[in-house]
Amino acid sequence: MRIGTTLTNYIIENQRDVQGATGEFTGLLNDIVVACKKIADVVNKGDLVNVLGSAESENVQGETQKKLDVISNELMIDALQHNGHIAGLASEEMEAFFSVPLHKPSGNYLLLVDPLDGSSNIDVNVSVGTIFSILRAPEGRRAIELADFLRPGAEQVAAGYCLYGPSSLLVLTTGNGVSMFTLDRDIGEFLLTREGVRIPEETREFAINASNQRFWEAPVQRFIQECLQGSEGPFGKDFNMRWVASMVAEVHRILTRGGVFLYPSDRRLAAAGKNGKLRLLYEANPMALIVEQAGGAASTGLERILDLQPEELHQRVPVILGSRVEVERLVAYHAEVG
Ligand code: AHG
Ligand code: MN
Ligand code: MN
Repeated sequence: MRIGTTLTNYIIENQRDVQGATGEFTGLLNDIVVACKKIADVVNKGDLVNVLGSAESENVQGETQKKLDVISNELMIDALQHNGHIAGLASEEMEAFFSVPLHKPSGNYLLLVDPLDGSSNIDVNVSVGTIFSILRAPEGRRAIELADFLRPGAEQVAAGYCLYGPSSLLVLTTGNGVSMFTLDRDIGEFLLTREGVRIPEETREFAINASNQRFWEAPVQRFIQECLQGSEGPFGKDFNMRWVASMVAEVHRILTRGGVFLYPSDRRLAAAGKNGKLRLLYEANPMALIVEQAGGAASTGLERILDLQPEELHQRVPVILGSRVEVERLVAYHAEVG
């Protein structure tokens, strides 16, 4: 499609090719875009509008919420609940899922969202983002149930994220490749800036929080050790390292120039009853779909992320994603230890 096309036109034109499309999906994406523009605006204004710092509350994960976590969640619900495009919404910031009230029109989709990813970066003016995943709502039934959200990532209708960085960018897949849109603040529109994004097959860059190293399991220890050995080790090449602590920013870097991102499970997380840190439904699944659609791979080390059968709304999962060769090597190391 023409570079510079508005996201709205892009969605409308793509929907023309879908038989039986009613415009509801187009409407849903537009609602998400409206929420992302509003979040981009408050993130951008920051201290000027008193939105930095803690909200003095905890979310279901036991994490202290930032004011912007709470605001972003409210903006998302507000943009989605009135227009009849979703039947329900699940969010990192809400223990239970939200059902569209009976007096409001319901829609054919479910939205799963991390309203603000990378909250620890908000107060230091480093990139944060919004991650979203779209599932089909059950047919012929208005009341939605928890099980409706617990679908394998392979069933996602679409997934995307909005990165609030030097530019605000919206990255989207509807299962037919990955496109990027940049927010033109002067006209208030996301415009198509890249299409058919491909992740390089191989990389010389890895991302992991190395402060957890002593807790890692053997396959991760081995892989990172071999990266650090560089040209003198088995990979025969020197590596660079990055850790932004915003998954959105890490995935965006990987889509742009390749790389491998790891947030593995480790002994410390396991002792706390957690299998990894990142959440399956609104972090790992949407990012896995985007990465696979760009030719990369996404695994727990043992299984393809998109094949996992979710058991809980806020389930955590180990995440290894990015350039195919390095992800496959990590999967092989996991297989060796069984
Ligand atoms: P969130 O702000 O939505 O809770 O997610 C933060 C996540 C993820 O974006 C990032 O990769 C990771 O947490 C960073 O974790 P560490 O602080 O342990 O490095
Ligand atoms: Mn997050
Ligand atoms: Mn978050």
